[in-house]
Amino acid sequence: MSAATTTYEDFAAAPPAREPVLEIRNLSVEYGYDESPTRVLRDVSLTLHRGEVLGLAGESGCGKSTLAYAATRLLPPPGLITGGEVLFHDRDGGTRDILRLSDRDLRASRWQDLAIVFQGAMNSLNPVYRVGKQLVDAIQAHLPGVGKKEAYERAEHLLELVGISPDRVRSYPHQLSGGMRQRVMIAMALALEPQVLIMDEPTTALDVVMQRQIVEQIAELRERLGFSVVFITHDVSLLIEIADRIAIMYAGEIVEDANALDVYRRPRHPYANGLLHSFPPLRGERRELGGIPGSPPDLGRLPSGCPFRARCEFAFDACATVRPRLTPPAVPGDDPRRRVACLRHDPEAVAAAGFDPVPVPPELAVR
Ligand SMILES: Nc1ncnc2c1ncn2[C@@H]1O[C@H](COP(=O)(O)OP(=O)(O)OP(=O)(O)O)[C@@H](O)[C@H]1O
Ligand SMILES: [Mg+2]
Repeated sequence: MSAATTTYEDFAAAPPAREPVLEIRNLSVEYGYDESPTRVLRDVSLTLHRGEVLGLAGESGCGKSTLAYAATRLLPPPGLITGGEVLFHDRDGGTRDILRLSDRDLRASRWQDLAIVFQGAMNSLNPVYRVGKQLVDAIQAHLPGVGKKEAYERAEHLLELVGISPDRVRSYPHQLSGGMRQRVMIAMALALEPQVLIMDEPTTALDVVMQRQIVEQIAELRERLGFSVVFITHDVSLLIEIADRIAIMYAGEIVEDANALDVYRRPRHPYANGLLHSFPPLRGERRELGGIPGSPPDLGRLPSGCPFRARCEFAFDACATVRPRLTPPAVPGDDPRRRVACLRHDPEAVAAAGFDPVPVPPELAVR
């Protein structure tokens, strides 16, 4: 799949896969040992469908990595999951809640059901072992029946899959470029053919060319191997090229969740709209780059009402006190499956709280 042949529309035109493979429901996470811990994730619900690439975007500190760690039960202390479920649906119809698995079942599930490539993963290879040995160890740790020769063959095949020459099994990490080390980590995550791959900023530390190659490779592998991907980045422009759906996070909550093309062409949340105006459009008319004024709130001291209101050009009186809920946008003809957390799109909640509803501004109702 080359840059010349793959367009955003190709991705968007892929038929939507609707069978869920991972359902995160009302996940809440706190950080801190003391009596006033910081609530970092608040009731986050998100569904990944089979074969889908779900992009998760948002500014630094909004809770993307926390969500990835909590969903895989890899959250380091002082992080604590305070509520929710993470349901994994097997191909054979079984469902298990990752948060409630025994340690033994969790170990079996990790890497096979669900694998994660960490933010900055390329630095987590052990410098004193050849990459082949590290791949082989990972394979044998989970599949004890696999012999050494077979494991090495598998390691070579995995390297090939991610575009690295198989003879690199003999290389030490320092003999590889940053992009190659990152690919090794992706190979490692794919070693047990997981059904879900969570990638936390897998390309952020790399230059643009390498970034592009890796993203294309992930898209191609996804087609070939049929897994589902949660792709985390603060770079929405990257997601528009690779993701089927995009969820936008702000201050520990999902504020918009929609088909990627819809997010790109018809953002409904003022924050999504602002993010999209923070980089040049891929095609079509040039437009002025706006960016978003201000910075995200301190999660330990969130304001009442909508967490985005201080930065929002469309805020009105209700936003100061009413907390927005994720609901379908109030734009006729919109995909009923899309969701947005904005009072401009929720006249019912506004009226119920005793405020006069205000119309959806044209900027948030683009058709
Ligand atoms: N160990 C910790 N103790 C206390 N707070 C933490 C800890 N780790 C993260 N946080 C807080 O949790 C919030 C979310 O952090 P997280 O790393 O999930 O953000 P992120 O969206 O992945 O950001 P980035 O784009 O920079 O990777 C941040 O506000 C951060 O300050
Ligand atoms: Mg992060």
